[in-house]
Amino acid sequence: MSGLNNHRNCWPLMLVLCLLVPTSTPIPAKPNMVLIMADDLGIGDLGCYGNHTLRTPNIDRLAREGIRLTQHIAAASICTPSRAAFLTGRYPIRSGMASETEVRVLRWTAASGGLPPNETTFAKILQQQGYTTGLVGKWHVGVSCETRNDHCHHPLNHGFHYFYGTPLTLMLDCGNKHNQKAQALRATYWFCTRTLACAMLLLALGRLTGSLPISWKTVGCFGVCVLVFFVSWYSSHGFTRHWDCILMRNHKVREQSMVLKRTPSLLLREATSFIERNKQGPFLFFLSLLQVHVPLTTTRNFLGGSQHGLYGDNVEEMDWIVGQVLETLDNEGLTNHTLVYFTSDHGAFIEGRIGDTPLGGSNGIYKGGKGMGGWEGGIRVPGIFRWPGVLPAGRVIHEPTSLMDVFPTVVQLGGGQVPQDRVIDGRDLTPLLRGQVPHSEHEFLFHYCGSRLHAARWHQRQGARLWKAHFETPIFSPEGAVGCYTRGLCPCHGKVARHDPPLLFELSEDPSEATPLSPASEPSFHAVVSRIQEATRAHRRTLTPVPGQLSGSSNMWKPWLQPCCGSFPFCGCQESAHPRDEL
Ligand SMILES: *[C@@H]1O[C@H](CO)[C@@H](O)[C@H](O)[C@H]1NC(C)=O
Ligand SMILES: *[C@@H]1O[C@H](CO)[C@@H](O)[C@H](O)[C@H]1NC(C)=O
Ligand SMILES: *[C@@H]1O[C@H](CO)[C@@H](O)[C@H](O)[C@H]1NC(C)=O
Repeated sequence: MSGLNNHRNCWPLMLVLCLLVPTSTPIPAKPNMVLIMADDLGIGDLGCYGNHTLRTPNIDRLAREGIRLTQHIAAASICTPSRAAFLTGRYPIRSGMASETEVRVLRWTAASGGLPPNETTFAKILQQQGYTTGLVGKWHVGVSCETRNDHCHHPLNHGFHYFYGTPLTLMLDCGNKHNQKAQALRATYWFCTRTLACAMLLLALGRLTGSLPISWKTVGCFGVCVLVFFVSWYSSHGFTRHWDCILMRNHKVREQSMVLKRTPSLLLREATSFIERNKQGPFLFFLSLLQVHVPLTTTRNFLGGSQHGLYGDNVEEMDWIVGQVLETLDNEGLTNHTLVYFTSDHGAFIEGRIGDTPLGGSNGIYKGGKGMGGWEGGIRVPGIFRWPGVLPAGRVIHEPTSLMDVFPTVVQLGGGQVPQDRVIDGRDLTPLLRGQVPHSEHEFLFHYCGSRLHAARWHQRQGARLWKAHFETPIFSPEGAVGCYTRGLCPCHGKVARHDPPLLFELSEDPSEATPLSPASEPSFHAVVSRIQEATRAHRRTLTPVPGQLSGSSNMWKPWLQPCCGSFPFCGCQESAHPRDEL
């Protein structure tokens, strides 16, 4: 009897405890995790980040039901290094994924560079914690090292149980429809090939019958020309498309080359079926979307649907796919046991255009975009976390956070431990997301362009001022533009502007980096700059030289590494058609 009374007396206390939710509730062990990464999506492209004309209701819903980060920073402004850092929680320079040359991403499925096998991804750790791990979509951090099937950099060697998608990335060549310039060039090559071949045949005939006074040498010269034009035609037409635009399931090539109009629905089907198959959990699912990268091949239902042309249509298609995945979680009753995360690998590709058609998105009020090491537009991306009942709904956090933080966050939520034998640059976000601490652990973040450190930010604990110093910035072209329109993408090395003292901005006052400060306009100029320089030196001391994965021979097409369905070089296969395959 007295026990019952005691229970009764506890009620008020329990009520108080309930009101303290969510900060004081224990975190349920081993939640499912769905990590969604868009490709080349700008922070200014989403409704929940202030875009009133693009419709992204599903991602907006995620933000409403979860936490939206306003200062979520990619470790690099271009795919391969940003993704390597995301997977490992380490600056790409630590794994050799920061290039010393102008080529900053893996260019070939058959290149030998990639995420080294001794790097540890969050998938590998969660796999050891009993998770079923899956990746659907884009990988872009390597396939093989020495032989066609060693798959040393492949997702299945980096902690994923299941992979369906493209080992490289989408690129313009995968869907040659919109690339009129390239098409015209191809047509010319082909015309020359045929004309020269005809001429050669006629000359050879003339020489054989003795009716033309020419030597076999001349005929041979024509032959060489034919070959050169043929090779040019072949490489410009089918080469990258044939070797790089491929789909794999686990270790097998399933489609070579991809039929792009079917790809989104194939990937969506794979995504929902992975979740359904593994609903007993726990699972980690990384949906690495092919949208919104060029060539922006968008399925019928979304073409012409947006107010922002081809690009807007593609964003709306991407949002719809996110919605389908969320709906699958709802239908399977998984929503409350699942942490969902949404981000983009880096900022929008502002120079992207063909003729007058813009192919890139919007980085909102932020300066610059994809490929620029330091300017905010290249690295500040959407960041949304949702876990109903555990993370508060509708909160917005302005603290500096990094895509690298996802690594320790998901590792620890999954019951694992981050590796102790190496530097991990990401920080566990859970206390910040749950409101248990006011500040993120990142006092400094470093902004690399390839292997060059272009800028660093300092979030000053006292007074909460946010500074950014640029040591090097790209030289924009044509003059007066913001972007490297003449080159297509800004370089990191060589032709860049060096700043000593660095260009200093106070992002908390000037988020668009419009007006650099000077010792005259900012009394603490020298103190701030020297504090940032000191932190930079301390950061550099933690770096150790590692083999470069993206330079020279590591980033060449090596026929003996080429994934192929069939017997090389006669590769080719298609996924069997499905009535619902076109969205
Ligand atoms: C919304 O996105 C489109 C497409 O990227 C862009 O053109 C437009 O400027 C954006 N609107 C805002 C308010 O950022
Ligand atoms: C999921 O969690 C939310 C927030 O705690 C709660 O309101 C809702 O009822 C839960 N749904 C289910 C199906 O348990
Ligand atoms: C991985 O191996 C490379 C080269 O063998 C080495 O330099 C690097 O330090 C290793 N990385 C880790 C995290 O052990």
